[in-house]
Amino acid sequence: MKRNSILLSILSVSTALIVSCSTVEKEEATTLKEALGDKFLVGVAINSNQAGGTDTAGVALIKQQFNSIVAENCMKSEVIHPEENRFDFTLADQFVAFGKKNDMTIIGHTLIWHSQLSPWFCVDEKGKNVSPELLKERMKRHIQTIVSRYKGEIKGWDVVNEAIEDDGSFRQTKFYEILGEEYIPLAFQYAHEADPEAELYYNDFSMAHPGKRDAVVKLVNKLKNQGIRIDAVGMQGHLTMSFPTPAEFEKSLLAFASTGVNVMITELDMTVLPWPSKKLGADISANFAYEKEMNPYPEVLPDSVSQAWNERMGEFLRLFVKHANVITRVTVWGASDEDSWRNNWPIKGRKDYALLFDRNHQPKPVVTSIIKEVLNTKKANP
Ligand code: G3I
Repeated sequence: MKRNSILLSILSVSTALIVSCSTVEKEEATTLKEALGDKFLVGVAINSNQAGGTDTAGVALIKQQFNSIVAENCMKSEVIHPEENRFDFTLADQFVAFGKKNDMTIIGHTLIWHSQLSPWFCVDEKGKNVSPELLKERMKRHIQTIVSRYKGEIKGWDVVNEAIEDDGSFRQTKFYEILGEEYIPLAFQYAHEADPEAELYYNDFSMAHPGKRDAVVKLVNKLKNQGIRIDAVGMQGHLTMSFPTPAEFEKSLLAFASTGVNVMITELDMTVLPWPSKKLGADISANFAYEKEMNPYPEVLPDSVSQAWNERMGEFLRLFVKHANVITRVTVWGASDEDSWRNNWPIKGRKDYALLFDRNHQPKPVVTSIIKEVLNTKKANP
């Protein structure tokens, strides 16, 4: 009897030890998608080296940490529809295949955008604006060819990108010049016709500006009143160390959610680099001293800056967790620091530290703390 109970105690102690060790291991090994995946999609923008598999370390990180991907560049019109009568789906097909192979939620970016726009799109052979009717036809063919090709595979599309200025006025793009604001509902309508199941998003940056906030709310309400499908507002989230305040960002997030659509953080990153105060151009690249000043951390990020970055990024990530009831996706704009567009804009060849994983693909402290915090909250409220 006694021997049996001793044996039992030994067994239960060792089981407890095994269980608690594996819990510790599990906690340490927990990834972003494991920790946050029940709150919102945890996404990343991927480039063609990643979709094509040549960046093997990048691919490993993406598969380990994220459950959703968006095309950083390969679905933009100049890549996917370079000439009026020629689509090129090579890179887009590769991107979608990557998502399917890895069982990820795939997001399309972007159908109508003034930037990286194919040069032929809005003009005739003489370079003059085409008629409103012809532009509508071109938009319809562009949108419907792409959306139907990936029908059922792409969950949602950034239909219109960056149509509104910070002060709330419409951006003076070729689309606006030729069609006025009507181009926006038309784009949504064409996309919906091509894939009625696909989610449709309006996506923009600097959304914490009050003027932009109000204009986007107005736009969403107008689309809804017209019976046009719109599922979410994408707040890009290209942050700096001073703009925006989390409070202003939160105001916009809540304002968008109050229209009844979801909110997505679609292009999250945060630069630590200074913004050039002088006019950009050849002068900057020609002036070594000035360049150096604009690229203050060419080797490593000093601890004090790194700490400030992690703290500020933490404030935003906590804000997203707090509003997980209306946020359906948080996507970072690149897997690791080396992938960030911030290294090359607005000045080429700088070294920025804008993303959640460093150049060795290691998580920044904020990643580890958020995972820990979320797991602790789950443990406290099972
Ligand atoms: O494709 C050419 C390649 O052939 C050439 O060898 C190379 C040489 O520099 O340039 C390549 O094109 C670059 C392209 O990225 C692909 O790497 C362009 O010069 C460069 O301007 C382009 O930048 C992209 C930018 O959009 C263009 O506006 C960034 O990678 C991409 O991260 C950025 O993403 C945008 C979102 O789509 C919308 N919201 C803002 C966000 C940041 O600007």
